[in-house]
Amino acid sequence: MATTTNSEGKKKSTQQNGSNGERENGAMQSSQLMKLFENGLKDIYWAEKALIKALPKMIKKATSQELIEALEHHLSETEGQIERVEKVFGILNKKAVAKKCDAMEGLLKEGEGIMEECEDGSMMDAGIIAAGQKIEHYEIASYGTLRAFAETLGMDDVAQLLEETLEEEKLADEKLTEVALSAVNVEAAAEEN
Ligand SMILES: [Fe+2]
Ligand SMILES: [Fe+2]
Repeated sequence: MATTTNSEGKKKSTQQNGSNGERENGAMQSSQLMKLFENGLKDIYWAEKALIKALPKMIKKATSQELIEALEHHLSETEGQIERVEKVFGILNKKAVAKKCDAMEGLLKEGEGIMEECEDGSMMDAGIIAAGQKIEHYEIASYGTLRAFAETLGMDDVAQLLEETLEEEKLADEKLTEVALSAVNVEAAAEEN
């Protein structure tokens, strides 16, 4: 796979530069990448903490049992994801610091707006799924990038932790698609009767 070769190639050059410091330009690049990585980590830390507060509101508004269970499951996963981010800060020997994530703030605000406009029941459920999937896609993009940065920086243990969360986010997104499709099917069947 081209991606693997690529990231391993970069990793190799980072390690060389880090160890002998001969190529100043390369060393500078890796410290800049580290800075981007740390900023991204602070951003997603804030985002996950905001989600811990937002998910219960979505659960409260949801009607479909399948949707409620999916959201509850993801809420408990999110708690574990926060611990994983803290673990990553620990590996970096840094204090876990959250920096306001403008994107997540916007997504949550939009989600609240959607919920205000929805009537309770299947419309509300569809609105929650729509907002939830936008959130999951943002998280997938964030963790995908952070994992790639970690690989490039040669931090395999960190990359592994981020990979675990990335997989959970992807499954959460797939689950929401599944819930949406089954709701549509249930409604179609009801109409037929
Ligand atoms: Fe998350
Ligand atoms: Fe998520």
